[in-house]
Amino acid sequence: MTELEKIRRDFAERLGSARSPSELQEVRHDFLGRSRGRLTAFLRSLKTLPEGQRRAAGAGANQLKAELEQALADAEQRAVPAAAAGASGLDITLPGVPARPGAVHPLTQVRRQIEEIFLEMGYTVEDGPEAETDYNNFTALNIPPDHPARDMQDTFYLEGGGLLRTHTSPVQIRTMLSRRPPLKIICPGRAFRRDTPDATHSPVFHQVEGLAVDEGIGLADLKGTLLEMGRRLFGQRVRVRLAPSYFPFVEPGAEFSVSCFLCDGTGCRTCKRSGWIEMGGAGVVHPAVLEEVGYDAERWTGFAFGFGIDRLAMVKFGIDDIRLLFDNDQRFLDQFRGAS
Ligand code: PHE
Repeated sequence: MTELEKIRRDFAERLGSARSPSELQEVRHDFLGRSRGRLTAFLRSLKTLPEGQRRAAGAGANQLKAELEQALADAEQRAVPAAAAGASGLDITLPGVPARPGAVHPLTQVRRQIEEIFLEMGYTVEDGPEAETDYNNFTALNIPPDHPARDMQDTFYLEGGGLLRTHTSPVQIRTMLSRRPPLKIICPGRAFRRDTPDATHSPVFHQVEGLAVDEGIGLADLKGTLLEMGRRLFGQRVRVRLAPSYFPFVEPGAEFSVSCFLCDGTGCRTCKRSGWIEMGGAGVVHPAVLEEVGYDAERWTGFAFGFGIDRLAMVKFGIDDIRLLFDNDQRFLDQFRGAS
């Protein structure tokens, strides 16, 4: 057997048992390597052969070299995925599952914007529990026992006493009971009412409560504050309207609206042709409420407001069904990626 045939046979044997890319690398070094390759050494030795033999041996060696290169290349190609799969059968060469970047929920965007506006006006942001006492939610707010809001039809009562707050106004009471005036607070949070869900009603919804208590403040300060908020939310052109309304814990009480930011008050679909977007309730804090929490109503006055932010987010983003805000449908939420 000639030397070339021995090389061919040994190579085939080694290649047959090489599994991993590093084993193949070893085979390559042993046969084709510059310093220790057997075929390399053979090719180098050709120049010592007599002229006559050199030609034939050279042709045979070069052909073998091409064969080995090809066989190694094929084996290396096959070895990569096999090695990647590893013993566990896990194929680490499969493309990964792309990560979905999150999106800030439209309600969170609106809430954060409102918090920013009021923080800049010197307010603090407060929090309160969703499960409340009858006292904080109703009694201390001057809501009499026979008031319709207390009806089982409207309020979720909890077993063993207590209720789910029907508005964020109990945070007014909690704040005043734990602090001395002057104070300026807002409280964003969830509220609950026994509504049948449809496109515009949800038994859980979101409000922002506001309360300021100081010496010598009143309705004009309230209106200025609401106007500042309206302009920051919707643009400098909007106007604020207060219309008489009744809430037991404010006197006078009002319902407030902002002029429609889309049609500038001329009437469009968003404002239902009225030119105004209803926001919520407001008023001057009733002296009975101040007395209830131990504040001297002769010295301190205040104003309060409360409004829903679900509808606000809906008009701002053009969302036509309130339930979309609570469904956590990724396809809906994806649309708010990259928004403010
Ligand atoms: N709590 C009232 C409501 O939910 C809104 C309101 C808040 C009214 C503060 C006046 C003052 O309807």
